[in-house]
Amino acid sequence: MGTSGWVRGSRLRQLGWLVVLFTVLFYAPLAFTYFLHGPTQHRLQDDVMMLLVSPGFAFGLGSGYDGHIATYIATYPTMWTHTVAGTLALVAGFLQFSDRVRTRFPALHRLLGRVYLVSAMIVAGSAIAYLVRTGSAQVFSGKAFAEVLWLLAIGTLTAGGLALAAILRRDVAAHRELVALSYALICSAPLLRIGWLTIAQLWHTTKEMINLTEGSWAGPLLITGAIVYTRRYGHGRGRQHSPLCTERAAALAAVASTLGVVALCVFAARTHWSNTPDWFVGGWGPLVVFFVIPYLVQFAGFAAMAQRARLRGDLAALTAWRTYLLALIATPALSALMLGYATGVHHIPLSQAWWAAPLGWNLALFVTFAGHVTLTTTFARRRAPALISANQPVAVS
Ligand code: HEM
Repeated sequence: MGTSGWVRGSRLRQLGWLVVLFTVLFYAPLAFTYFLHGPTQHRLQDDVMMLLVSPGFAFGLGSGYDGHIATYIATYPTMWTHTVAGTLALVAGFLQFSDRVRTRFPALHRLLGRVYLVSAMIVAGSAIAYLVRTGSAQVFSGKAFAEVLWLLAIGTLTAGGLALAAILRRDVAAHRELVALSYALICSAPLLRIGWLTIAQLWHTTKEMINLTEGSWAGPLLITGAIVYTRRYGHGRGRQHSPLCTERAAALAAVASTLGVVALCVFAARTHWSNTPDWFVGGWGPLVVFFVIPYLVQFAGFAAMAQRARLRGDLAALTAWRTYLLALIATPALSALMLGYATGVHHIPLSQAWWAAPLGWNLALFVTFAGHVTLTTTFARRRAPALISANQPVAVS
């Protein structure tokens, strides 16, 4: 089947779908077989890591074989369910994006849609069951990564629930975008493992450390994928105004951001990179490479897209890009809050707690994406008609 029958659109879009196809084909067998024959048996995923990275990476320090297997023995039924449902969600979700399946076989599309949404909910539910049962210090990659997984699980439940609500209200535009958001989050699982393979080629470190770095940039990358995929539908007419994208919201975000930067500088001055676990790599280098630089690149990219939309007079696209830019402006404030929570409430040592700070970036993008969809489509208009007209839209020229 040619890609044009699979997903119509520009070559870039089709290339994107080839990448997703490769990702699904690569990861589905590894995830499906992970716990299939027991919590301790030899795993295909580890063989692949051994072959493509190194035996030390697959079985040595920070691999999971240095003390993590006991948690899988204790949670085996939950994790078995998690990985089987995860594989189903990954495959069923991918088939849903086929234009051919959707238009020629609508009954199949509806069936796969149900399978996808139920599996995605089971994935998130089983992840929460695991996290509740397993102390956060015992989670792979430690307490900061446990926070990443909590946010991912709540985000997956929220996006799936909103996508279901949208289709029950017959709001196809909102449904399409929310399912894209939900599937983007499901794709975090294969992206994490592809990240292990690729980053480990350039940086001699452990799986646990790479997990932490991916908790930073993977979410924003995947949400950007959902934005780009839904762009040709999502920026449709009638979506020029959003209560999220106002002059007042921009001013608030800027003030909060300034305070956030000050707070982050105070945390930075108090940071000592000592007493960290053996698998952990301290210092500012990894945070700059995997958080600060990707964040700045995304900021520049979104600003360029907003500028292009402004020049061609596309008000709906301009509102969307400006809304996502607001998320990026607010990021330092939310990152400082996440860091404060991680150290002050969750008692994570400051050196490792820094890897909770990028959750502010992830959260801001998730909320603005879901907020923009629900507040600019009929999803919100049916429920709160006054909300859209009551707010002043951002000036566009
Ligand atoms: C999107 C929401 C998801 C969340 C919140 C989530 C959460 C989790 C959690 C909490 C663990 C245990 C971590 C630990 O070892 O301490 C885990 C492990 C695992 N998950 Fe997920 N997961 C998600 C999606 C998926 C999907 C879609 C798949 C499969 C396609 C998957 C496959 C796995 C596998 C195979 C493991 C075993 C550990 C490993 O591969 O190294 N997960 N996940």
